[in-house]
Amino acid sequence: MRKETENPARDEYIANLFAEEQSVHKQIRLQMEAEGFDHMSLSSLEGQMLSFYTKFIGAKNIVEIGSLLGYSAVWMAGALPEDGKIYCLEISEERSEIISKNFEAFNMSHKLEVLSGDAMGHLNHLSAKAPFDMCFIDANKGAYVKYLDWAETSIKKGGLIIGDNTFLFGGVYDSENSSESKNRIKIMQEFNKRLADKEKYNSMLFPTSEGMTIAQKLF
Ligand SMILES: C[S@@+](CC[C@H](N)C(=O)[O-])C[C@H]1O[C@@H](n2cnc3c(N)ncnc32)[C@H](O)[C@@H]1O
Repeated sequence: MRKETENPARDEYIANLFAEEQSVHKQIRLQMEAEGFDHMSLSSLEGQMLSFYTKFIGAKNIVEIGSLLGYSAVWMAGALPEDGKIYCLEISEERSEIISKNFEAFNMSHKLEVLSGDAMGHLNHLSAKAPFDMCFIDANKGAYVKYLDWAETSIKKGGLIIGDNTFLFGGVYDSENSSESKNRIKIMQEFNKRLADKEKYNSMLFPTSEGMTIAQKLF
């Protein structure tokens, strides 16, 4: 599991009080650890942040771009009402099947629609169901601006656009010493810059270990 900070005692304190994993989170975390994927997923603290925002805005429908085995998705789904829905867009067919099984095992299938394959094609189709309350972007970093283009038109006024890894592993603020490509750095800088526009968004790049940009759409 990704370490939230360099202060594990502090994180454990927060996790125990506010972000304790339930059996569904623990099961998925074990699956991720077994596959060596755990570094790709959120921490429980970040999961609870998503859960908090889901409830805070009273979200009923969420689009997640990049779902891995469903860890972040179950944090959000747990905060949705019984008739709420999360659309999980995941390029890997194998991972998509695991997401479905995990939701099924914990009786959450009624809140899930998994769309397997490249996200962009699915997003174009999902536009017919817009507006959505929230979009969580956590897939291929090189497409973040394209995902933002979609979210800008498909998320309702007052809804949230959230991007993870928005420090791009330091690339956005220390490009000289970054191993990231110039193109990926440019894309992530543009993503953050657009969401920092105060005319359009109430927003913040929260300094989690990898950076999480959270923007409320004002138009
Ligand atoms: C960082 S992981 C997501 C972690 C997940 N949100 C969590 O916290 O549990 C990124 C995922 O995006 C998927 N992905 C990468 N490119 C994609 C694309 N073009 N369309 C859809 N999914 C993609 C990968 O297969 C991977 O499972």
